[in-house]
Amino acid sequence: MIVFALLILVTTLVYVYVKWRYTYWSKLGVPYPEPVFFFGNVLEAFTMSSHISSLCEKWYNNYPTYPYTGYYKLLNPAINLRDPDLIKDVLIKDHFSFHDNEQHFNKRFDSLMMHNPFVASNDSWRKGRTVLTPLLTLLKVKSFHPSIVDSCEKLTNYLRTLPPNEDVEAKSLIARFATQNVMRCLFSLDTKCFTETKNEFLDLGTNIFKPTSWSGIKLMIMSICPMLRDIMPFGFVPAYVGEWFRCFVKELKEERLKSEQHQQDFLQMLLSSVDKYDINEAELAGYALAMFVDSYETSSGVLGFAIYELARNPDIQERLYEEITDVLAKYDGEFTFEALHEMKYLENVIYETMRLDVVDALISKICTKEYTLPLIEGQKEPVTIYPGTAIQISTRALHMDPKYYPDPETFDPNRFTEEERRERHKAVYLSFGEGPRMCIGIKFALAQTKAGLMSIVRDFKVTISPNQKPVVMDNRASIYHARHGLIVNFTPRTKTK
Ligand code: HEM
Repeated sequence: MIVFALLILVTTLVYVYVKWRYTYWSKLGVPYPEPVFFFGNVLEAFTMSSHISSLCEKWYNNYPTYPYTGYYKLLNPAINLRDPDLIKDVLIKDHFSFHDNEQHFNKRFDSLMMHNPFVASNDSWRKGRTVLTPLLTLLKVKSFHPSIVDSCEKLTNYLRTLPPNEDVEAKSLIARFATQNVMRCLFSLDTKCFTETKNEFLDLGTNIFKPTSWSGIKLMIMSICPMLRDIMPFGFVPAYVGEWFRCFVKELKEERLKSEQHQQDFLQMLLSSVDKYDINEAELAGYALAMFVDSYETSSGVLGFAIYELARNPDIQERLYEEITDVLAKYDGEFTFEALHEMKYLENVIYETMRLDVVDALISKICTKEYTLPLIEGQKEPVTIYPGTAIQISTRALHMDPKYYPDPETFDPNRFTEEERRERHKAVYLSFGEGPRMCIGIKFALAQTKAGLMSIVRDFKVTISPNQKPVVMDNRASIYHARHGLIVNFTPRTKTK
């Protein structure tokens, strides 16, 4: 009897406590979607029937007149931003109140990932950014150009070996290209991933990013349950991948210390910075892993979707082909770094792909210093938020807002001519983020994706396969991934010019 009474008491107290937590936003006059007991507003993300980024997109669209809205991440109040001026302040002007990304990994099981500037905070973030940024300048990326050209040749040679009308999944194809190219530019390595069906390098990226129910659970814990992140007995990156990178970088370092001949690659530049920045073994391996992780999945996603969009839009594909042949003709057919730089329409195609099929659909920050939000309709006083409050910015919602991009479902690279870019609000295009935590790999990412797309369109016509299913997001993936793939066919072009 006493046990039963205690049970009722505890249940009542829990119920009252949870209900009380859900009064936070209403007391402050902040609009929010109705929470579900205990799960708040993220139940669909928990059951994986929706992605957290899709939920934020929905809330953005449901409250068109507010600069921001509240929601509940389980029991915790969180914010979803929508006004570009406020977004700009959070990412740039008031960066010091939001200097950390929300995605924090497990310190014990993701020890190498903790050196990735995307995950790191404070001094560790500052050090990582200071070491890595100078290694990714336009000049340094230019020095990777011969390696990129070589990877592009391997890609097009591989496509030539395929039987006519063979169905190809664009993202898996580009995962091979990205693995080959990233490993080549980082470590001067030929991975042979275009010739071997079972390939250890290809497995690295697949094992980190392949969406599975397990990866979905890990992602959910990392993005929704911060209190579980540090106690869970596993990391985001499988343990073997971390260990593989640790041994691999150590061996390469020892080899290079013995050798007289020095490669011109990322690792060599990193090794030259060891004394200047006092980089230890774990940081060295961590930075190398960071460059692989940060460039592999994002670039494969962007290039995979670019191929798909060109297949869906044959006129745009032909216009791009014309630009490619015209510019290459000026360089006697040679694919130089300068030629690539001159292909403006090609760059616009990539930017428009990143708008319409934004791979990183959500930017998540955490409040690190008390911050007062702008006053909203009906409020007497503005709301102050405190350290620990999660802040979400739905990149996809901004990119699909007809106010900034009329007819947003249409793929139109002309949205990214110089004038259009100049006139647009800085915070409504966030494919690479903005402010002091903006992506540091933009030049490398663009060089790699532009070169890959240029080589494909120069040599092949791409069409959508009759077996392509409607594109839906895989809710188990960390970044935008088409659940049923992007199935296309490649037909070699007969040279006309
Ligand atoms: C098309 C490919 C890429 C896309 C779409 C992309 C996108 C992004 C985005 C959205 C962020 C977060 C920005 C923020 O929170 O404000 C980011 C951060 C970052 N990216 Fe990229 N990225 C790409 C390629 C790369 C490459 C190739 C590298 C390195 C070689 C790289 C390295 C990083 C790093 C280190 C950060 C963390 C920066 C910091 O927190 O200080 N990314 N990227």
